[in-house]
Amino acid sequence: MKMEEVFTLSQVARHNLKQDCWLVIDGKVFDVTKFLEEHPGGEDVLIEYSGTDATKAFEDIGHSKKAKNLLLKYRVGHLPGFDFPVTKFTNDEPPFQKEMKAFVIKEDSKTKKTALVELFVPLLVVVFYLSYRYFFWAI
Ligand code: HEM
Repeated sequence: MKMEEVFTLSQVARHNLKQDCWLVIDGKVFDVTKFLEEHPGGEDVLIEYSGTDATKAFEDIGHSKKAKNLLLKYRVGHLPGFDFPVTKFTNDEPPFQKEMKAFVIKEDSKTKKTALVELFVPLLVVVFYLSYRYFFWAI
C-alpha cells in the first residue's frame, strides 16, 4: 500500500493561486495546477475552489468515473484522519454485493426447480390416469 503525505486544511489553503492550485475532494488533497487548462469544465471553477474542500462542488457536477480516475494523477496527499490506499475506481462490485448476488442466484435456481416439480408432478398424474382409463376401459 502506497502511503501519502498528510496535510491540514490550513496547509491546503496556502495553495490557492492559479500557479499553485490545490483542492480537497473526499479528504484527499490534489494539486491540480497542471490540470487547469485541461479541465473540461474550465479553469475558473478549479481556481474558485483552490485551497478549499471542493467535495460538494465536485459531486454536484456528477463527474464521471473517468474524471474520478483522473484524480489519481493529481493526488499529493490526504487530510488527517483520511488514510486510504491509492486505488482506482472500477466497475467491480464490492465482494459483499457479489455474495448477495450468488445468494440470490442460488435462491432463484431453487425456486425454478420447485416450479418444475410442481408443474410436472400433477401432469404425470394426469397422464397416468388417462393411460389407465384408456387401456383398462378399452378392454
Ligand atoms: C481535480 C479535480 C477535477 C477533475 C479531475 C475534474 C475532471 C473533469 C472531467 C474529466 C470532466 C468532463 C466530464 C466528466 O468526465 O465527468 C469535468 C467536467 C466538469 N467539471 Fe470537473 N473536475 C475536477 C474538479 C471540478 C470542480 C472542483 C468543479 C467545481 C464545480 C468542476 C466542475 C466541472 C464542470 C462544470 C464540468 C463540465 C460539466 C459539463 O459540461 O457537463 N470540476 N471535470
